Amino acid sequence: MALLNMSEWYDIARDTNWTPRYVREEELFPPAMSDPYGIPVSEWEAFDEPYKVCYRDYVSTQREKDVGAYSVKAALSRSNFFRNASPHWRSLLELHFGVICFPEFHSTSLFARITRFGRAGGMRNTATFGSLDEIRHAQIQLYFAYEFIQQDRAFDWAHKSAKTENWVIVSLRHALDDIEHTRDAVSSAIMTNFAFEQGFTNLQFIAMAADAAKYGDHTFATMLQSIQSDEARHSQIGEPLIAIMVKNGRKAEAQKLIDIAFWRMWKQFSVLSGVSMDYSTPLESREHSLKEFMEEWVIEQFVRNLKALGLDRPWYWDHFLEEVNTFHHAQQLGIYFYRATEWWKPIAGVSPAEREWLEQKYPGWNETFGRVWDVVIDNIEHGRTEKTACELAPMLCSMCGLEMSGVPGKSWKVTDHVLDYEGRRYHFCSVVDKWIFEQEPDRYRGHRSIIDRMLDGTIGSGPDDLYEYMGQSPAERGTCAYDYTWVEGYKPPLKAAG
Ligand SMILES: [Fe+2]
Ligand SMILES: [Fe+2]
Repeated sequence: MALLNMSEWYDIARDTNWTPRYVREEELFPPAMSDPYGIPVSEWEAFDEPYKVCYRDYVSTQREKDVGAYSVKAALSRSNFFRNASPHWRSLLELHFGVICFPEFHSTSLFARITRFGRAGGMRNTATFGSLDEIRHAQIQLYFAYEFIQQDRAFDWAHKSAKTENWVIVSLRHALDDIEHTRDAVSSAIMTNFAFEQGFTNLQFIAMAADAAKYGDHTFATMLQSIQSDEARHSQIGEPLIAIMVKNGRKAEAQKLIDIAFWRMWKQFSVLSGVSMDYSTPLESREHSLKEFMEEWVIEQFVRNLKALGLDRPWYWDHFLEEVNTFHHAQQLGIYFYRATEWWKPIAGVSPAEREWLEQKYPGWNETFGRVWDVVIDNIEHGRTEKTACELAPMLCSMCGLEMSGVPGKSWKVTDHVLDYEGRRYHFCSVVDKWIFEQEPDRYRGHRSIIDRMLDGTIGSGPDDLYEYMGQSPAERGTCAYDYTWVEGYKPPLKAAG
């Protein structure tokens, strides 16, 4: 029996809108969950997902992807690989798995919300596959992470981190709760599928995969690529939604959603991908710098996509371009100084050869960030390692939850952007973070950073209280991954005897 091609039946099969008879339309699709923008029902018929797939094809493709990734893993002895990996690469893996697994799993719920409350049949259909994708991503990442658990307990954080109040996790969870989990189906799809997934996931899943392959971690590279091939599909829910918003006079609202989400994700990826690419990836395996990847994947492509949809670059674009050169370098200093508050073992990543690379990729690095590292190196060389770790908690931004930071030296201009709202003072590290708060203060006002919790007594003042609160036993507190031996490259070479 001849089978019809998918293109011949797809549109009819996924056209699942009907006129309800037993409940009212707004009971079936409450505006607060489905569409607070009041777009007429007939307009949703125009939703046209660029990437079409049916269940039968979806299952066989996904199966192939899983077979590919799991068989690469089975063929290569990972335990030996890990034992022989450099502390650079181990540090990168510990950070990656600790922060990535729970967003994958939680994204299942985002797509389920779009599946239930989306107004267009195509949107619901694509989101159904999105939910299945995210279950697969959570499973594969957890499975691959736990392979290392016997050698390194930091990998327990692949599963554990989401349930802790560690400050790194609080920062990421705040951002993701904001854009993915606490808004209606339209807003969260524009913010997540367009600004987050289409905007940024290429960085961590394609660019990092290139570095991983170059380093020889083919299992990690294959896993990342298999995930990104799903992201590339379900991230496309955002584009047709924006087109419908713009056509129906909601351009300003769509633009604001993107401006908020793009900034929130930039902060997170700057630290995660930026530090991984420019510090944790061994020098000989670096494909490009974060800045180069950002220029290619985010700045060029994302802006082109925005313009094609009739939107503009976010209003803070110049400020953002400045930060691409600096933000993650400043955060890397904080990551090293506050290492005890992290579950992974951070590296400095600033040997003489690495500094040369950093200076070449980010001209002026030596005169600014390099100066601070000079002091760190001097302290380590003179046995004052305690001076390279901060005891007091850093000042954290009330929006991004990351350390208030800036460029050391002449251009030092760290400003605490303060806002008083209903009897409470909030601190922001940039005008953009403050602007986001001002858009909807009641959404954000209840959040208390780790610093707020220390000040209000939620966290005790004993020496272990902060760590216990953040879920870190003594063995789960980061130390210098090289045990300070990385400064040896700075010592003048010994003259050959005789
Ligand atoms: Fe995912
Ligand atoms: Fe995704």
